[in-house]
Amino acid sequence: MKKISIYLAILTAITSHYSTSLAQDTLPWHQEPYRPQIHFSPKKHWVNDPNGMVYHNGVYHLFYQHYPGGTTWGPMHWGHATSKDLVHWEEQSIKLYPDTLGFIFSGSAVYDRNNTSGFGRDGKGPLVAIFTHHVDPSQTGGKNFQYQSLAYSNDEGKTWTKYAGNPVLRKPESTDFRDPKVLWYEPGKKWIMTLAVKDQIEFYSSPDLKNWKYESEFGKNLGAHGGVWECPDLVAFDYNGKKIWVLIVNLNPGAPNGGSGTQYFLGDFDGSRFVASHTDPRWMDFGPDNYAGITWSNTGDRRILIGWMSNWNYANEVPTKNWRNAMTVPRELSLQAAGDKLLLASRPVPELKRLEGKPRLYRNIGAPETELLPSPAPIQLPALIELDATGLSAWNLVFSNEVGEELELGFDKASGQYYIDRSRSGASSFHKEFAGRHSAPVFSATPGRKVTLLVDQSSIELFADKGLTVMTELFFPSSPYSRFRLNLPAGGNMKSVRVVSLRSIHTH
Ligand code: FRU
Repeated sequence: MKKISIYLAILTAITSHYSTSLAQDTLPWHQEPYRPQIHFSPKKHWVNDPNGMVYHNGVYHLFYQHYPGGTTWGPMHWGHATSKDLVHWEEQSIKLYPDTLGFIFSGSAVYDRNNTSGFGRDGKGPLVAIFTHHVDPSQTGGKNFQYQSLAYSNDEGKTWTKYAGNPVLRKPESTDFRDPKVLWYEPGKKWIMTLAVKDQIEFYSSPDLKNWKYESEFGKNLGAHGGVWECPDLVAFDYNGKKIWVLIVNLNPGAPNGGSGTQYFLGDFDGSRFVASHTDPRWMDFGPDNYAGITWSNTGDRRILIGWMSNWNYANEVPTKNWRNAMTVPRELSLQAAGDKLLLASRPVPELKRLEGKPRLYRNIGAPETELLPSPAPIQLPALIELDATGLSAWNLVFSNEVGEELELGFDKASGQYYIDRSRSGASSFHKEFAGRHSAPVFSATPGRKVTLLVDQSSIELFADKGLTVMTELFFPSSPYSRFRLNLPAGGNMKSVRVVSLRSIHTH
């Protein structure tokens, strides 16, 4: 009897495994398990950093580090997607392939309005991509070298030509010399390149994108140095009539909640040198899954950043099948005062509102435990959830599925911090660093208690305190979360919870 039931159990396991993988293989790509419904992900294969973001003639271009030969990191190409609204993305053909100079690593793109590069045609300026060519140890038998190269397009980014004079910036023994982000510096009428060099930044300038002159370096003994600096960005903000520069520096490892993360410095840039107004590290996002973010160029007064929604600790191992990894939602950056400091805030772009379905509003919830949206109308993901926790010393929300996997997040009274705990959220054995509880401080002297959550099939983004406290986290439940519950301390009152189902960007 015992034997038979063991056989039966094995048979059931085999057939259910078989039917699950069969089901995965026959599902349309956008319905695959864990497939993001409000975030960009490629239909197939590997993605890491966002690259070459430029807005031009009504189109947001998003290029990205891509390996079309598999679902793990490999020889890098630039994939390409476009959007008219920062919400819906159309995947385009691959635009840059590895060549004899190396793999195509991260970089940026600009609209060369005045045709300083001479790549333009018919009196029109070209789009120019400035990227790192990476000579991989597998090609050179040991050493790895990196240098900067150009490609240009005269047909709205549809086709690209690599510049015959590549590379345009090199130096001897140039390992960890990469990720050029280029901006037009109007007062000096020149291009400025911000480059990550080991665990520092170097600035270069150029009249034409082809000839580069070293200007200065930045970062020694400033900020966090737990790993190598990557994917920097130099962004100007107008704040109360004053120009303030922000230097964004991605760092791996060494982030506050482990692995990859994004720090930034506020300061002044005079066309040659960046001087920070503080020495302490400041973090853009305290969750583990927002990395390599940089901003779109040519967006006028808007500063819009998109990040890679993963972490080098486990990006190659997360349990998706036909593709691996995705981007965060695009976020609008601004400067906000917090006590006597000025800090960088990020909030989801308002364009995402167009995905909102009918809201459900709950007011003045006082019970210690409330099942929100109970069966038979379970929560449908993706969803936007807005909480007004004004006056509450603590609260938490728990998303769960029928097999008892739970994602918990909330505000912790003892530490005065927000937290997300994914230790029981679903699959995590693929990497020892994945399961865990992460927390994020609050910065304002009198912080607002409104919290916005964007919850997708396998990610959550938390924005609190007007975008000063941000957390981005992945999770992989064995079936989608369908319930969620609010827990409050005795006598506590949650002013409101607004729950809005979001339409999938793939079908609406
Ligand atoms: C950051 C990064 C970049 C590099 C690229 C390679 O995630 O390591 O520094 O250009 O990824 O794919």
